[in-house]
Amino acid sequence: MTRAASVLPPGFVWGASTAAYQVEGAAHLEGRRDSIWDVFCRVPGAVVDEHDGEVATDSYFRYAEDVAAARALNLGAYRFSASWARVRPDGGPVNRAGVDYYSRLVDALLEAGIAPWLTLYHWDLPQAIEEQGGWAERSTAYRFVDYAATLHDALGDRVRVWTTLNEPWCSAFLGYGNGQHAPGRRDARAAMAAVHHLLLAHGLATTELRRQDATATLAISLNLDVADPADPADPGDVDAARRIDGQWNRLFLDPLFRGEYPADVLAQTAHLGLTDHVRDGDLAAIAAPFDVLGVNYYHGQAVSHRPPPTPLHGLPSLARPVTSPLPAPEGIHRVPRGLPQTAMGWEVQPEGLTRLLLRLQEEYTGPAGVAMAVTETGAAYDDVVGPDGRVDDPERRAFLAAHVGAVQDAVASGADVRGFFVWSLLDNFEWAWGYSRRFGLVHVDYATQQRTLKTSGEWFAQVAAQGGLPWEERS
Ligand code: BGC
Repeated sequence: MTRAASVLPPGFVWGASTAAYQVEGAAHLEGRRDSIWDVFCRVPGAVVDEHDGEVATDSYFRYAEDVAAARALNLGAYRFSASWARVRPDGGPVNRAGVDYYSRLVDALLEAGIAPWLTLYHWDLPQAIEEQGGWAERSTAYRFVDYAATLHDALGDRVRVWTTLNEPWCSAFLGYGNGQHAPGRRDARAAMAAVHHLLLAHGLATTELRRQDATATLAISLNLDVADPADPADPGDVDAARRIDGQWNRLFLDPLFRGEYPADVLAQTAHLGLTDHVRDGDLAAIAAPFDVLGVNYYHGQAVSHRPPPTPLHGLPSLARPVTSPLPAPEGIHRVPRGLPQTAMGWEVQPEGLTRLLLRLQEEYTGPAGVAMAVTETGAAYDDVVGPDGRVDDPERRAFLAAHVGAVQDAVASGADVRGFFVWSLLDNFEWAWGYSRRFGLVHVDYATQQRTLKTSGEWFAQVAAQGGLPWEERS
């Protein structure tokens, strides 16, 4: 046994993640109706090359191929999301065909020996609910609970890990704050209302699922950030890092784990009215106990109160101009550190993941007795299919090796991490970037839908089989 295998806890899960709108396709088939992403994709200039999720990787019809790929990767779990617009189109009555699709997928996974990790919401609100106010409206939280209960009724006998939300920060601040994502609103007050209603939806659904199912594993996945002051000796930079931490991490972690919003963030955003939406009992509802904090980590950031001479890239060039998603962005600037970058323009910073996991363990999950799983990490690179048909992607392999190593380091220092999921199982619809960015362990030829395991996938299959990275291989 390698040292790595001995460092990770027994039962450590190796997996890969996807999301409904990014892979399913069949966007208007078998009863599914518009989600906010279908509508957003029709807005000129909202998505690179006007791409959309109409077909995506066709996983609604090719899920058996996806399960076969997950099997070839030796995955112990597959993290996917369900589409609310398929299960309860327009937020209305249950669409049996939609539920049956998830039932078939779950059965195929179980048959292949792969645990289904189901996320209830990965950004694709039914458009009809958006038209009634979307996440800026309190009633959406209650409707989410009904939707969660519908799926649990159908799949609760076979799905044992339920995640309420994926990255509510993105839903609120990219969806309602700077309009970079669906529904494309640019209204900081609506974004703050969305923060509260998303958290409320999580808390209420967690309580309902627990009531129905005492032994389910319940989770939420957050995109958390490691913000470092560009100059630790500069109080302005230190303050910029604190403010990022507040608006990115503590705004979600504090209510979930402590039943309170962070005072400094409330003070900075007082004009945006978050507390106007908080009713008696809401914070206790949001702090309902859950089992696993999903940590999605792609990069950290160095921040300064001074604008950098050369700004960092990292946004698609779109007709719709995009501003900062943060509710109180004044005097916060991301500063390049000269680290290698992925094709997203994101800096590669694996040690940030170690620090993040250890900080969470100490300040949040440890005291609450909650475990963690890295539910997403990964990288986009410009993959090329070679003349022999192979896709050799050494940069992704190095990225993943470094991040597996970062998790092993965190576990060795006491972080309770139970799983590692790569984003993504296969190349897919990368939101505002359309199909122009590839994150998969499996390459997809969008003209033919042919799937090809990349060399990073071959390597990850070995890591999963041997239960970790030999110590000497960590980079
Ligand atoms: C999201 C994924 C997305 C990935 C890469 C995460 O924030 O959960 O849906 O594709 O990042 O951008």
